[in-house]
Amino acid sequence: MNVPFLDLKAQYKEIKDEIAPALLDILDKCCFINGPYVSGFEKEMEDYLKAKHVAGCSSGTEALVLGLKACNVKPGDEVITTAFSFFATAEAIASVGAVPVFVDVRENDYNIDPDKIEEAITEKTKAILPVHIFGAPAEMDRINAIAKKHGLKVIEDDAQAIGSEYKGKKAGTLGDVGCFSFYPTKNLGGAGDGGMVTTNDDDIYTMLKAYKEHGAGEAGAKTLELQEGIKESIDTAEEATELYNPYKYFNYVIGHNSRLDAMQAAVLSVKLKHLDEYNAKRAAIAKKYFDGLTDKIKLPQYAEDTKPCWHQFVIRSEYKSELCAFLSENGVGNGTFYPVPLHQQKAFNAKNSRISGDSLPVAEMISAQSVCLPVFPEMTDEQVNYVIETVNRFYEDK
Ligand SMILES: Cc1ncc(COP(=O)(O)O)c(C=O)c1O
Repeated sequence: MNVPFLDLKAQYKEIKDEIAPALLDILDKCCFINGPYVSGFEKEMEDYLKAKHVAGCSSGTEALVLGLKACNVKPGDEVITTAFSFFATAEAIASVGAVPVFVDVRENDYNIDPDKIEEAITEKTKAILPVHIFGAPAEMDRINAIAKKHGLKVIEDDAQAIGSEYKGKKAGTLGDVGCFSFYPTKNLGGAGDGGMVTTNDDDIYTMLKAYKEHGAGEAGAKTLELQEGIKESIDTAEEATELYNPYKYFNYVIGHNSRLDAMQAAVLSVKLKHLDEYNAKRAAIAKKYFDGLTDKIKLPQYAEDTKPCWHQFVIRSEYKSELCAFLSENGVGNGTFYPVPLHQQKAFNAKNSRISGDSLPVAEMISAQSVCLPVFPEMTDEQVNYVIETVNRFYEDK
C-alpha cells in the first residue's frame, strides 16, 4: 500500500466546484488587488477566530515581519524565540534587523520552555515570539505573564496552528499579534503563498495596514505618529474615488508590498468553510495513532486545556533515520521536521543571533529524533491502519 505524506489533489477534487466560480468571477471583474474577495475573507476570519482585526498578507514569513514591525521591533532589539521551528520564524526577526535569542524547548510538546524565558531577557529585549509548533499551543498564560512583567510584546507564530485552541480561545488571539501562513500544505492552504496577521489592538492594526502597503496614506501617517511621535497631515486635498486613491502616493514610513492577493483570498474563503471538518478529521487520525502505535516510541503530548489542530503528528524515535528509511521502503510518506534546530542553522552566527545559556540540549535531541507521520483529512482508515502496522512492525525486534 502507498500512503502519501499529504494529498493536496484529493482535497482539491472535493472542492473544485466551489473554487472555480470564484476564480472566474475575479478574472471577469479584474479585481486582483484588495477588493471584495480580500476584505470578505478578512471578515470571515475575524468571525472564525473572534479576533478584532485581520490583515491578509503575502506569506507567513511576511506576516511575521509585519507583526514585528507593527510591534515596533527595530534593528538591534532582541526577540526571544524557540530554537525548534521552521527557519522563517527566526529569519523574520533577523530580517527586520533584530537579534533572535534562542531558548530551549520542552520535551513534552516541543514548544518554548516558559521556565527558560526570563533568564534570556536583557535590556534590549522587545518581544517574545512563541511558535505553536505542529499545531500544539504554547503555554500562553505564562508567556503573557512574563511579557507583562517586563513590558514586552508577544508575537504568536501561528503558521501551523489555525483552528488550535488554548483555554477555549483560538490561537492568534492569545498575544499582541498572531501571524499565520497559508502555504499550500498548511491546515488552511492556499493555491500559492499567503498569510495574515491578527490583532485586537486598533493601533497595531493601523500599523499592519501601513507596513503591508508601502507605508502609504492615513495608516502610514498614523504609524509615523505612533512609532516616531511625528505628526504629519495627509498632503492632498484630492478626494478618493472608487478607482483612484490619492493617498496611495503619499508615503510616511518604509513598508513593503505584502498584500494577500484576491485569487488566494477566494480559495481560502472556500476552504475556511471546511476547516473545522478538516481539523476534526486530523484529530480522529491522531486518536487512532494514540490508540494503535507501539509504546516503544515517544508519542506527542499536549496540555489538557489545549486543542491542537494536528498540523503534524510527530513521534520521537532513537532510530530516526532507520525508521524513516523503513517507512519509505514500505510506501509510507514521512517527514523529519526539523532536522536542524535554529541555533545550528548555518545562516545564524554569534553576530546575528544568540542562544540563551550555554546550550539547547532539548531542541537538539528533538531534532535528532523527530519523525512526522502522515496526517491529512482525506486519509482512509486503511491508510491509517497501514501506517500503524508499519511503524509497529519496525519496532517488533527493537
Ligand atoms: C512555524 C512556521 N513559521 C513561519 C512559516 C512561514 O510561512 P510561509 O511559508 O507562508 O512564509 C512557516 C511555514 O512555512 C512555519 O511552519
